Amino acid sequence: MSRLSQKKITVVGAGYVGMTCAQLCAYKNLAAEIVVIDVLDGRAKGIALDLNQSAAVEGFGARVRGTADPKDTHGSDVVIMTAGLPRKPGMSRSDLLETNAKIITSVADYVRLGSPDAHVIVVTNPLDSMVHLMRAKTGFPGARVTGMAGVLDSARFSWFIAEATKSSVQDVKAMVLGAHGDSMVPVPQYCNVNGVGIQQLLDKGSIEAMATRTKNGGAEIVGLLKTGSAFFAPASSAVAMAASILLDQKRLLPTACWLNGQYGFHDVYMGVPAILGKDGVEKIVEIPLDNESRAQMHKTAGAIMADVQILRDKRLL
Ligand code: LAC
Repeated sequence: MSRLSQKKITVVGAGYVGMTCAQLCAYKNLAAEIVVIDVLDGRAKGIALDLNQSAAVEGFGARVRGTADPKDTHGSDVVIMTAGLPRKPGMSRSDLLETNAKIITSVADYVRLGSPDAHVIVVTNPLDSMVHLMRAKTGFPGARVTGMAGVLDSARFSWFIAEATKSSVQDVKAMVLGAHGDSMVPVPQYCNVNGVGIQQLLDKGSIEAMATRTKNGGAEIVGLLKTGSAFFAPASSAVAMAASILLDQKRLLPTACWLNGQYGFHDVYMGVPAILGKDGVEKIVEIPLDNESRAQMHKTAGAIMADVQILRDKRLL
């Protein structure tokens, strides 16, 4: 059994994303205690028991606790927020705004009181406005409240690049910035196969087609599954961020970060490259963007601000 960290992780929401996050955190020995909290007490407890019973086979030492009681989450080092309604076919992420805002607010209350030093990684959609709301309701510094989207969107783009170039996905590095929505910004300039720029390997048309497929990546899976949305890649992405924070790995990951002037934006959450370590967002990395990507960043900021304005208009923020 590998060395066990003494940390505590709470996964909020025992849906597919939440349970897969809990499983990955356990298998990677990221914490001594993993709490899965859901309003459906039995579901959280059932998942925890099942996961604990895989420990003898998988050889992990974490204890998983399922609960509906916020007190059980107290003292968490990392909270991964996955609770919320998922999209149905035809829905946009923004259609979920009002319902999921109420869920974020109730979770923020107990995280603020019970886990005042926690890092919060938000996965709930519509991602960028929900992470904005989480920061506002917890009152935590921006460095400790982040959103998971860029890792997922970049992973999707990486997969399409690997397929198109017939190369190993292990060698592909892709970068997708901006909102987690139709206006996201795949940045071909920073995508490569082991250092070889994709513009040297693929024509403009196929890069554009892959960028479009990446933007629709979540909807494509929602359409195929019919009920529910993607969970393997979203959970892997959230846990990669949690690992970078808990293990102080200092990975540079596209992350929804609170911007205070970076990239020319203020008081808005948006996906940008950031170093994640023990202090959360330790550095927002500003990279030069070509004109097209810069224009897209402005468009994506507008889309995020429109969702945030809806929250204000409805007095949810
Ligand atoms: C997706 C959800 C997690 O993109 O937003 O699949």
